[in-house]
Amino acid sequence: MTFALQPGERGVCIGQSGCGKSTLSTELVRRYLMDFPRSRVLIIDSKPRYRATHKLSGWSLHYPRWARGDTIGGSIAVHSADDVMGAYRFTRCVILQSLRPNAHEVEDFDEEAFESARKLFRSSYEDSPTLLYIDEYYDLITGGGTSGHTDRRILQTIRAGRERFNSALISTQRPRSIPLPTLTEANKYYIFNLEYEDDVAYMQKHGPRMQRTASGYNFVFYERLRGGERIEKLMRLGLHETARVA
Ligand SMILES: Nc1ncnc2c1ncn2[C@@H]1O[C@H](COP(=O)(O)OP(=O)(O)OP(=O)(O)O)[C@@H](O)[C@H]1O
Ligand SMILES: [Mg+2]
Repeated sequence: MTFALQPGERGVCIGQSGCGKSTLSTELVRRYLMDFPRSRVLIIDSKPRYRATHKLSGWSLHYPRWARGDTIGGSIAVHSADDVMGAYRFTRCVILQSLRPNAHEVEDFDEEAFESARKLFRSSYEDSPTLLYIDEYYDLITGGGTSGHTDRRILQTIRAGRERFNSALISTQRPRSIPLPTLTEANKYYIFNLEYEDDVAYMQKHGPRMQRTASGYNFVFYERLRGGERIEKLMRLGLHETARVA
């Protein structure tokens, strides 16, 4: 049993603000890069939270104060879908960010995100598996509120990813923002504490049937195995020093 994502698997990470979703997701990204040496990762970072260490030009990237989150060593920040594939010539971890280092916002960021996801999906194959990680999925849904409407390119990527060795990890505060097929068909779930009754009820209706609930930085790891077997475990990530992996 591993709580880490394998090529072609789909994971969802849900929990209230500040419970540790992005921290856990970063760990899953790092493990993917380490466990599969020919793999590539694309982080869709709408907040933005992540810090890349390099620009596409090869120069080191120094962030102003708005960027406080995790640094992924060796990663390259890009701001348009057109730059994603080119960046993989130099790194295995590309971060598509909604803010430029000069704090100018990327226009139509969701469009760049959908197009990038499609490119990653298309470039994925057995010898070069990929992981699409979307932090704050809520930011990419359209139609307002928690309706779960999203672009069909994302849906296709997530649904057909298994055959293409394209994994997906979706992280969000509100389970309703996740397209229903993704929520019901994921292999791995990382469920932290949920803030709203509404979300708890939604997960009981559409999520996996779990016995445990998490609090603090703990999360329930739930895995659907082939043949109907299920694993459920209460876990907590121990924070430790991180290695350069990209
Ligand atoms: N397992 C852990 N042990 C100790 N501290 C943790 C753990 N996980 C996360 N933290 C800390 O908690 C804070 C919030 O974590 P993180 O940003 O991952 O939460 P989040 O769920 O992504 O929040 P948001 O919904 O606001 O994006 C960070 O300062 C992080 O270092
Ligand atoms: Mg977060």
